Amino acid sequence: MANLKRDIKQIKEIINNLKKEGKSIGFVPTMGYLHQGHVSLLQCSKKDNDITVLSIFVNPTQFGKGEDFDKYPRDLGRDLEIATKAGVDIVFAPDEAQMYPPDFATYTVQERLTEGLCGKFRPGHFRGVLTVVNKLFNIVKPDRAYFGEKDYQQLIVIKQMVKDLNMDVDIVGCPIVREEDGLAMSSRNKYLSEEERQSALSLSKALFLAKQMFESGETNPEKIKQKMKELILQHPHVKEVQYIEIVHPQTLEPKDKVEKGDRVLLAVYVGDTRLIDNIEL
Ligand code: PAJ
Repeated sequence: MANLKRDIKQIKEIINNLKKEGKSIGFVPTMGYLHQGHVSLLQCSKKDNDITVLSIFVNPTQFGKGEDFDKYPRDLGRDLEIATKAGVDIVFAPDEAQMYPPDFATYTVQERLTEGLCGKFRPGHFRGVLTVVNKLFNIVKPDRAYFGEKDYQQLIVIKQMVKDLNMDVDIVGCPIVREEDGLAMSSRNKYLSEEERQSALSLSKALFLAKQMFESGETNPEKIKQKMKELILQHPHVKEVQYIEIVHPQTLEPKDKVEKGDRVLLAVYVGDTRLIDNIEL
């Protein structure tokens, strides 16, 4: 059984002892409701480190007003089973009062890379993500931390934070895990009705179309984006295409001419559910 810890002081003590023994620590931060995407990160960590720590915390500061913080799926019992099967050593699941006591006043903010894509449509989101990840790194003190390319902007933004703030942790990016039909795994897929789920396939279909167009010689981003949008809007439950962008994989700047290695990212509302996905060209 994975060792469940809810107390910051307690987990710090355990980690400090493990570090004294010379053990390497791999860390996978999550908001829980675990799926195979999370498990793939845990497997990477298991491979590279002596000890794997999983955190489960639905972080209120990264949700905007009117977003899904209250209804975000939570099931600690189920998560503990999955974590145990995956061979996690320690599960850290703090409560909100410990992470954000009433006098909490310090946030981690990043410029430039957080301005476009999801940052543009979710003001304050990356401030919340960076603040909690910074706190979790200070608590868990990992040698390596694992993040999915599913949240591609998040991965790049976290790498930049670690570089800018001279943090002693290696950030490891891991590939997107998809369902057999192409849908990127996400805790939020639980919100989708059977019919909406069919429409949700439009995200990956559009990304595969972009890749196909590029591989057939198309380098004009506008043409690729137009075809993607048309494909997505053919699906009945699509409420809004929030953005489709083709960007440089490190700077996240939009491209005038598409090159190999560029990243196509999108955010789409299917019904009331906001879904994101991306692909490397
Ligand atoms: P969460 O959405 O639970 O995701 C936790 C980690 O799992 C992230 O690094 C995410 O990119 C990765 N992940 C999610 N779905 C994936 C998939 N289909 N394939 C591969 N990796 C996948 O991202 C967060 O939580 C939070 O913002 C967090 C970093 C924990 C800060 O609160």
